[in-house]
Amino acid sequence: MPDFSAVQHRIHALTERLHHLNHQYYQLDISEIPDQEFDQLLAELQQLETEYPDLVLPNSPTRRVGGTITKQFPTAVHRYPMLSLGNTYSEDDLREFDERVQKGLEGALYAYVCELKIDGVAMSLTYEHGQLTQGVTRGDGTRGDVVTANVRTIKTLPLALRPGPDQPLDFEVRGEVFLPLPVFAELNTEREQNGEALLANPRNAASGTLKLQNSAQVAARKLRFYAYSLLTPGRHFASHSAALEALTRYGLPVSDTWRRATSITEVLDFVHYWAKKRFDLPVATDGIVIKVDNLRQQDQLGYTAKSPRWAIAYKYPAEAARTRLNEVIYNVGRTGAVTPVALLTPVPLAGTVVKRATLHNANQIEALDLRLGDLVYVEKGGEIIPKITGVDLSARPVHAVPIRFPTECPACGTPLVRPEGEAHFRCPNERGCPPQLKARLEHYVSRKALNIDGLGAETVGRFFDLNMVTTPADIYDLPARRPELVTLERLGQKSIDNLIAGIEVSKQVPFPRVLFGLGIRYVGETVAQKLAAHYRSIEAIMAASAEEMAAVPEVGGVIAVAAAYWFQQPENRALVERLRQAGVQLAVTGEAPVPASDRLAGLTFVLSGVFEQHSRDELQQLIISNGGKITGSISKKLSYLVAGDNMGPAKREKALGFKVPIISETDLMALLPTATEAPEVRDSAAENPVVPAGPGQQGSLF
Ligand code: IVH
Repeated sequence: MPDFSAVQHRIHALTERLHHLNHQYYQLDISEIPDQEFDQLLAELQQLETEYPDLVLPNSPTRRVGGTITKQFPTAVHRYPMLSLGNTYSEDDLREFDERVQKGLEGALYAYVCELKIDGVAMSLTYEHGQLTQGVTRGDGTRGDVVTANVRTIKTLPLALRPGPDQPLDFEVRGEVFLPLPVFAELNTEREQNGEALLANPRNAASGTLKLQNSAQVAARKLRFYAYSLLTPGRHFASHSAALEALTRYGLPVSDTWRRATSITEVLDFVHYWAKKRFDLPVATDGIVIKVDNLRQQDQLGYTAKSPRWAIAYKYPAEAARTRLNEVIYNVGRTGAVTPVALLTPVPLAGTVVKRATLHNANQIEALDLRLGDLVYVEKGGEIIPKITGVDLSARPVHAVPIRFPTECPACGTPLVRPEGEAHFRCPNERGCPPQLKARLEHYVSRKALNIDGLGAETVGRFFDLNMVTTPADIYDLPARRPELVTLERLGQKSIDNLIAGIEVSKQVPFPRVLFGLGIRYVGETVAQKLAAHYRSIEAIMAASAEEMAAVPEVGGVIAVAAAYWFQQPENRALVERLRQAGVQLAVTGEAPVPASDRLAGLTFVLSGVFEQHSRDELQQLIISNGGKITGSISKKLSYLVAGDNMGPAKREKALGFKVPIISETDLMALLPTATEAPEVRDSAAENPVVPAGPGQQGSLF
């Protein structure tokens, strides 16, 4: 009879010791004991855990994912400090800037390059021998966070450059990391539906995304990058415009909106042209950057303590409009959150006509002391979601009516609740509140969930209104109800065939997406994937306690409690049972389909250690089918070392010595296309060629 308490004691001691050593090693770069001794301790723990699986601690170091999940990022000193630009809001200031330049250059001829000022996060990238080796944030200008793994998830950013005869061996590229506006809007819609706080603007969203510790989550957010400068130790190019052209040739994304201007008048034409046009771009911009083109002239003009004398940023004034608040309506979301929406007298603002604005929650109505009939100021937050920023009190009508937030659900009459610490009032009638049920169905059929062909949000909403479908399981009864379907207006034979085929095909949608589609609060795509990978079947998830789920990486306490609560509800259990009978995938089956591409062409990989989400064979297959090569040994030519659990420290040392980037399994997956990958956002400027009125030397670039 084994002595359980002694074993338990030893497991505790080993776990604690190994956690400590891991921390020293990965975060502080200290090796307290020789690697061999570390390996022995780990092996002992693994042995005990195999013999006594009940005693395994939830956060055992044997389950750790690589060394890439750290509590913070390492920092690096910038080779050239990352300065900021002088700002101006007035055209007079721009003319004065031009006069200073003219004076500084003592009458020589000069030209400018005008670029859009992208509202994102400044990033410094290092390319060595054509390979992306490092990404560092601006930080304090001298030292920034090393976020290489996250930067690598940016799909439009080449990991290996197209070689060119004039390509410097090693160089730095600076540019802006940003979140395209449609992605930002989608992200916020999702967050709203999941009952999470909204992100204020695309810049904050991009900056928050770059700081995520999990690169797979970063990849899901679809960041983009535009390069705006190239730095080398010597002067490699004669002009900034030549450097931008070279960057484009090397395969780096450069926004094709830049222009050369040979006078301040042409600069102002550029400024005027983009004042309105910029709202047609799928990226937030807040101004124009004007740079002296010739690099020798840049050197001649030099720098002040903070910024270059050869460049300036012109910022567009934030666009605001004044209009009347006519009514406030209340939307009930998928999770029951009640959001007030202001209905306004339509007013043109920043390129669109605004009729509605979000009021976020009751607090905001109170803070603004809003009354119906007020004249209000509307601004576009991050240039996309209009919001009310103030009230013109001097114009308040005598009979303006104070706004009273409802105490009952506007849809079903249930008294609203406001859980402690939350900004939103919620309707707790999750089983019977029509907009909640409808929004859950819309979520179930949405693109990232079941993505049922022939059954979009509108159609499923119509079936809901007709009382034909109230839960996702009802969808699978539709094929047998053809006689009823044919009686519906605007639904022809062909659409019905399509719908039925779509429902049939959706039974093959993999389990993680079904789990996401159930619409459990806080269970977004990533969490659904983690839970599915960990438990492998819905039964196993249903059998897990909140405590157990909270121990799964990426699944925190709040999510675990929400998920466990969901699975305890009898009607949800009944739903799962009906989905099972319908043949929907409720477990992970076999191997995931292998997406194929040439994304990894020209790259070589070494795999080392034990992997969590895939077997080594699967990873090898994934790399090969995406154009990459596998090799056994680490050399300076290697592109990546993919590190699993318990990778040998010697390999790590060798890779570090050769400056070969070490990435995790998750990082590797982020480099690959996903089976469901959406088409990428393209700049509308590139799709709708237009030539600006003034500066147009490179008209063909539009
Ligand atoms: S040039 C010496 N060009 O604006 C400064 N900056 O203070 C070189 N930005 O955070 C910067 N678009 O990241 C430059 N086309 C552009 C830009 C740009 C956005 C950002 C930059 C920095 C701020 C300037």
